[in-house]
Amino acid sequence: MSHLPISPAAPAAPAAQSTSEEASRATWGSRLGFVLAAAGSAVGLGAVWKFPYVVGQHGGGAFLAVYLACVLTLGVALLLAEMTIGRLTGQSITTALRMLSGRGWAWVGRVATFNAFAILSFYVVVGGWTVAYLLRALTGTVLTHDTATLVSEFSAFTANPVASLTSMGAFLGLTALIVAAGVQKGIERAGKWLMPALFLLMLMLIARALTLPGAMAGVAWFLTPDFSVISGGTLLEALGLAFFSLSLGAGMIVVYGSYLPKDARLAGSAVWVATLATLACFLAGLMILPAVFAFGVAPNAGPGLTFITMPAIFAQMPFGHIVAVAFFLLLLFAALTSSVSLFEPVTAFLIDEYQWRRSTAVIAVLVGTFLFGAPAALSFGVWSDVRLFDRTIFDLMDYVTINLLMPAGGLCVAFFVGARIWPKARAVLEGSRAQWFVPLWRVLLLVLTPVAIFGVWYHSL
Ligand code: PFF
Repeated sequence: MSHLPISPAAPAAPAAQSTSEEASRATWGSRLGFVLAAAGSAVGLGAVWKFPYVVGQHGGGAFLAVYLACVLTLGVALLLAEMTIGRLTGQSITTALRMLSGRGWAWVGRVATFNAFAILSFYVVVGGWTVAYLLRALTGTVLTHDTATLVSEFSAFTANPVASLTSMGAFLGLTALIVAAGVQKGIERAGKWLMPALFLLMLMLIARALTLPGAMAGVAWFLTPDFSVISGGTLLEALGLAFFSLSLGAGMIVVYGSYLPKDARLAGSAVWVATLATLACFLAGLMILPAVFAFGVAPNAGPGLTFITMPAIFAQMPFGHIVAVAFFLLLLFAALTSSVSLFEPVTAFLIDEYQWRRSTAVIAVLVGTFLFGAPAALSFGVWSDVRLFDRTIFDLMDYVTINLLMPAGGLCVAFFVGARIWPKARAVLEGSRAQWFVPLWRVLLLVLTPVAIFGVWYHSL
């Protein structure tokens, strides 16, 4: 069986090839390269699209507090665990688990890979919205501070089957092109500029949002926890969002970790990735929720929240058109670095496990994702009445993958690293400055992670 290919199209292709002849696997040029690539996968629509509307639906500050608690404990522990598996084997998740522990565990890898595919299928729907709003920004048709118009335009666009399928197809096509053409190196280099640019632009937009009349009520709502509003459902969403925003539980970090050089500082990298991803969520919340209050939009308006609020902010800024174009362009870029990181492991799986040619695998993933994602896109319009367990197809895919399968993947990884291969995992951290963290890490993996995940599931399901 072949190894995960270090083809030019490998995810966020490593910056430099190892000089050692025997090292057949490339490594990141620097720790910064790895951290930026992993953060590029983590920071995406999860922060700018999903985080604000889920906070809006689940009571503001209390949700933020639970989310942060999840990231700081099991989030960091599982990031480190996935990196360790990648670092120990130099393989993607299915192959890695089989190498370390036999055939049975490979099934965990298969399920994780299927989960990446399922997430990709609805991620491209929202990616399509980004493409469509970028085009609207370019043609200047998106700016108005009348939020009622923005709400009805958003609904009309997402309900239109042709518009939503075309934009989804465009986003998916861009993702597949990047994976097939192997322009990750360019993307990776550009990422060094574009991610900071996105952060800077968000800071600028936060300044505008905070000076809107009535915005401070939104700030207070976002930052003051009222724990009386917390339900089992809130805990489940916060847990799921922690996994989603850190790209955990789908084998993604294993793949990126597999490119790490032997002397890389894993613990520090895990903390960096967690910090950047959380910071992106926090800034997005601060950019959108105060504006939601200022414009009198209902915070629980759902998945359209970002697309309804941002144009209203642009409409109230000097050079709003240019800012709108810059914003949707940077968001599209952030979404692409994440969707590529979902697309590539599925492609690599088909190549590794079934020896498919890369081009065949890319086409198969492209077609499969379109077919699997189309019902999710249509569930905002013509299929909005198709409901299972009281959810639309989109909501159900989102719920099952993020709130059930990602934590389930996390549980398996926690047990695998904390118990099954613990001596090897501990050895990876030997000599690092993070020695003090090693016993705590094991407690987080073997005690806190299962208690938190089973506890949350028990409360909410
Ligand atoms: N973390 C990405 C985001 O927040 O947009 C989504 C994601 C990417 C989830 C890659 C899982 C993954 F493997």
